Amino acid sequence: MNDKKELLAENAALRLRLEETQAVLDSMRSGAIDALVVGGPGNEQIIALTEELKQSARSRHAMLSVLEDQKRAEQALKRANRALRTLSACNEALVRAVSEPELLDSICRLVVEKGGYSMAWVGFADPDLEKTVRPVAQYGYEGGYLTASKFSWADTELGRGPTGTAIRTGSVQVNRNFLTNPALAPWREAALRRGYQSSIGLPLKSAMGTLGALTINAPEPDAFNEAEVTLLQELAADLTFGIETLRTRADRDRISQEHLHDTEILRQSLEDSIKAIADTVEMRDPYTAGHQRRVGLLAVAIAKELGLAEQQVHGIELVATVHDLGKISVPAEILAKPGKLSNIEMMLVRNHAQAGYEILKDIKFPWPIATVVRQHHERVDGSGYPLGLKGDQILLESRIMAVADVVEAMASHRPYRPALGIDAALKEIERGRDTAYDPAVADACIRLFAEKRFAFSG
Ligand SMILES: [Fe+2]
Repeated sequence: MNDKKELLAENAALRLRLEETQAVLDSMRSGAIDALVVGGPGNEQIIALTEELKQSARSRHAMLSVLEDQKRAEQALKRANRALRTLSACNEALVRAVSEPELLDSICRLVVEKGGYSMAWVGFADPDLEKTVRPVAQYGYEGGYLTASKFSWADTELGRGPTGTAIRTGSVQVNRNFLTNPALAPWREAALRRGYQSSIGLPLKSAMGTLGALTINAPEPDAFNEAEVTLLQELAADLTFGIETLRTRADRDRISQEHLHDTEILRQSLEDSIKAIADTVEMRDPYTAGHQRRVGLLAVAIAKELGLAEQQVHGIELVATVHDLGKISVPAEILAKPGKLSNIEMMLVRNHAQAGYEILKDIKFPWPIATVVRQHHERVDGSGYPLGLKGDQILLESRIMAVADVVEAMASHRPYRPALGIDAALKEIERGRDTAYDPAVADACIRLFAEKRFAFSG
């Protein structure tokens, strides 16, 4: 009997130990080892075993935790690296860009190619009633997404996505998940069908306000971590700076073009006025008809022969056409008089150089036209008129005019004499080469006829 009682008691004790062991194992499975209390006499082995298992579980847990931290750090680094790569490539594109559309296309392409995102697009904020966001550039798989969907920057359902909110608030908007984010309802189906899982809206903030937004769609949920967002914000700021710079440059170029156009019109008007003056002189004085034009031909040829700048040559051409303008102050009968002029008549004719200067002196030309007109009868040895200037006191243009004028006048018919001919004219220039005329100008003129077959046409 006693034996039986002892056996039952032993069985009960064993059952209790088994139940306790089972409880330890269950707790270990459920991970609640720390909360387990194992006690009682004779349980030392279980306690030791339990401690061992607890240590092992702790080590395993710690290791898993380290591995997970490492994996998270690697992913964060990978994301930051791709954002950094994108930023670097985009900055290069910013430096190279020559037009705004080209810049926007490049940035969208680089964001997708370097950053590994699904699709990037830039939308500008229109000031219309609906506050439309107008896509202006995109790259990546889009499949009609931007044309089929509507985007606004108003505080309405179509304006509460990352793009519209970024523009409206001027702050970056991260959409962690197209599937679960309630604000993304209007675009959810279209986005998921194209594989977009998350997105980010980056405002393009300029000094004048927010121009629009750069929106990037990613193929995985929760694709943008903190470091990546910071770098992409920097990219959006750089892009805005690029847009502003190109717009400023385009404005400056446009103004410059308009200015050039205005200047061209003014220049043309000025030249037309000079030609009108020349025509007036020639209509009144038929004997010198064509004289000024032919003097111009020779004067230009001499100027080119001397290697003068194009602008200076053009000035000489213009001044030649009006160099005898002052003759309108000389009575027509004196100009047309066939015989020798009296001293007074000669004085009146000679006054035409000063008279021409007086007419032209107050008009602002880009060339010293009035002075050249006054000096075209001066001679380098001081024998000319009206001032008797010498050498370098006479403008080079006037020294050229003097030679061209004499050659043309001698070669042509005059009321008081027949044409003397080119040969006589060139002999006169050669004779006066070291006295009346500038030697370099005289030589150039002689070379033109002797070697370069210059001839007055018409
Ligand atoms: Fe003259």
